[in-house]
Amino acid sequence: MRIQERIRALKEERDAVILAHNYQRPEIQDMADIVGDSLELAVSAKGTDAAVIVLCGVDFMAETAKILNPGKTVLLPVKDATCPMAHQLTPGMIREARASHPDASVVLYVNSTAESKALADIVCTSANAVKVVRSLHTREVLFGPDCNLAAYVQNLIPEKEIIPLPPGGHCYVHEAFTRDDLGRARKRGGKIICHPECRPEIQEGADVIASTGGMVRAAPGAETWNILTEQGMGYRLERLFPTKTFYTKEEAICTDMKKITLPDLCRSLERMQYEVILDPVVASRARAAIDRMIAVGR
Ligand code: 13P
Ligand code: SF4
Repeated sequence: MRIQERIRALKEERDAVILAHNYQRPEIQDMADIVGDSLELAVSAKGTDAAVIVLCGVDFMAETAKILNPGKTVLLPVKDATCPMAHQLTPGMIREARASHPDASVVLYVNSTAESKALADIVCTSANAVKVVRSLHTREVLFGPDCNLAAYVQNLIPEKEIIPLPPGGHCYVHEAFTRDDLGRARKRGGKIICHPECRPEIQEGADVIASTGGMVRAAPGAETWNILTEQGMGYRLERLFPTKTFYTKEEAICTDMKKITLPDLCRSLERMQYEVILDPVVASRARAAIDRMIAVGR
């Protein structure tokens, strides 16, 4: 039996749904019931009837699925697939910042640990960060851990004061896009779309700034696109829009997003590993902050 057939059979047997992020390997995206951005995966996890959710992504995505649907078994096929940026912010930093900014709201990017989310007023993703911050009544907003997403929000909401927490939190994959990448893209032609995790100077030089789900929604607007985000996005877009041209940067690889392979996915369903287990108090506090985000919408 081919491994893909084995995975399909196990999926039936376990009553499982496979959710995959847009950066996953092509062969994993092909096996998924739903491929999407962080917000789309969270909403799908909350609404699924399946008994088991296999989250092909990184740990904060699997944790978010468990927090939103605690009665389900949530599996992350590779135990140590994580987002390094999420670990740049600790609960201690949030407590300290709250003490020195008592009037500020705390908005945490979904790329954060469950323990940090439990201390947030509200969570956001790159798809809804602006809407989430606009929904708040405070002028001061502590926002972390991505300082580039914080700068993007600040640019669109000048009437608020967005305080990045920590000051230099960033994603190493998106931080590596340079003005030279922009220059090469302009020379090549087509539109330039970047993720808001890219630095402000890259955001300024792009035609469109969007989450990975936003890139899917923007794609019908042009025939040729330069995609400034993790290179897995190219496969996702090519599969959805086979007649269009998408240029990605081959070195823009998130090594954690690429950890899950077909044998890992198969083993995960066979052995029911690695199950996400969260402290119930942390989970219920984090859930309140994520639910507030979902109520605000995209
Ligand atoms: P999206 O929610 O836009 O898919 O972003 C997730 C992520 O980790 C980007 O690096
Ligand atoms: Fe984290 Fe960056 Fe990887 Fe996204 S691409 S999961 S932000 S390290």
